[in-house]
Amino acid sequence: MKAAVIGYGVIGKHHVKILSEMGVLSAVCDIDKNAVSGLEGVELYENYIEMLDKVSPDVVHICTPHYLHAEMVIEALGRNINVLCEKPLCIKEEDIPRILEAEKNSKAILGVCHQNRYNPANLYVKDYIEDKTVEGGVGQVSWNRDAKYYASGAWRGRWDTEGGGVLINQALHTLDLMQWFCGMPDTLSASTSNLTLDGKIEVEDTAAICAKGDVGFNFYASNGSALDMPVEITLKVSGKTVKLMPRYVVVDGEIKSFPKEKPNGTKTCYGSGHGRLFEHFYRCVREGEHFPIDGAEAAKVIKIILAVYKSHGKSVKI
Ligand SMILES: NC(=O)c1ccc[n+]([C@@H]2O[C@H](COP(=O)([O-])OP(=O)(O)OC[C@H]3O[C@@H](n4cnc5c(N)ncnc54)[C@H](O)[C@@H]3O)[C@@H](O)[C@H]2O)c1
Repeated sequence: MKAAVIGYGVIGKHHVKILSEMGVLSAVCDIDKNAVSGLEGVELYENYIEMLDKVSPDVVHICTPHYLHAEMVIEALGRNINVLCEKPLCIKEEDIPRILEAEKNSKAILGVCHQNRYNPANLYVKDYIEDKTVEGGVGQVSWNRDAKYYASGAWRGRWDTEGGGVLINQALHTLDLMQWFCGMPDTLSASTSNLTLDGKIEVEDTAAICAKGDVGFNFYASNGSALDMPVEITLKVSGKTVKLMPRYVVVDGEIKSFPKEKPNGTKTCYGSGHGRLFEHFYRCVREGEHFPIDGAEAAKVIKIILAVYKSHGKSVKI
């Protein structure tokens, strides 16, 4: 197996470290020559098309700013190169069918890094609800991303390059879990605002969503908290209250805790989800199996987010 990475920024370094440990890393590309200057033992490129054509990797990891994902996914799939793309899959509605078409016409497969689906507490809840009825849910993400964070990359905080704010970046994983547990809603009404970074970012730092469908759920997210708080999800499941936090699940008052995991990659806050997702994706590539977080699956949360941006407090179809 030969892996290549496009984008050697915050998350690209995380991918590179895990792939080096897996013994599959062949090449890294970043348009910023300085970004990759310390990397040794791999081929380095500044142009990702040149890298795809010369290296012809088995898997390419896309770790670039949001607005580049769709184009890079389509270019790689068009060359029959398997793609593992960082979230979000894309930021524009019209890119969803383009990506799904490229996926259908490719001999290669597409996977998207929704690595929180691989966290033990989240897997426990997914398994717990399987033979029960989810009746409703609420999720919340209260984190802190200040002006300094947004100034750390010119693409951050702008509609044309990030495609949104807290929802399409930080809270996407938890919103994805909401739809994974509750199913895809049909309609939603939502409001977004900029409560702490007015004049500093174009996009929302805070959002509130009421989603309706077979199973309705509410979702609240903000980058304007005083500090990063643990993500929380509460579900009503066959009459019982299920509370989910990163390392705990409480079912009607009974606590199930999960040991602190040895993190992989570069940052402890990412836990070990990426490593587990990579192993699963590479197994699917090797053995010709279907990878569950494919284009259509990853597009679900994007459709919810894009509907939120259209809602302005009114009910909209997703
Ligand atoms: N799954 C997760 O938990 C998680 C965590 C952090 C970031 N991410 C995602 O990873 C992606 C990157 O985020 P980041 O924080 O690493 O951003 P970043 O700005 O730190 O890094 C992006 C890198 O891409 C490079 N780049 C830009 N255009 C390029 C091009 N045309 N060709 C090659 N390289 C190019 C930049 O020079 C930079 O080094 C985003 O989609 C983000 O949402 C995911």
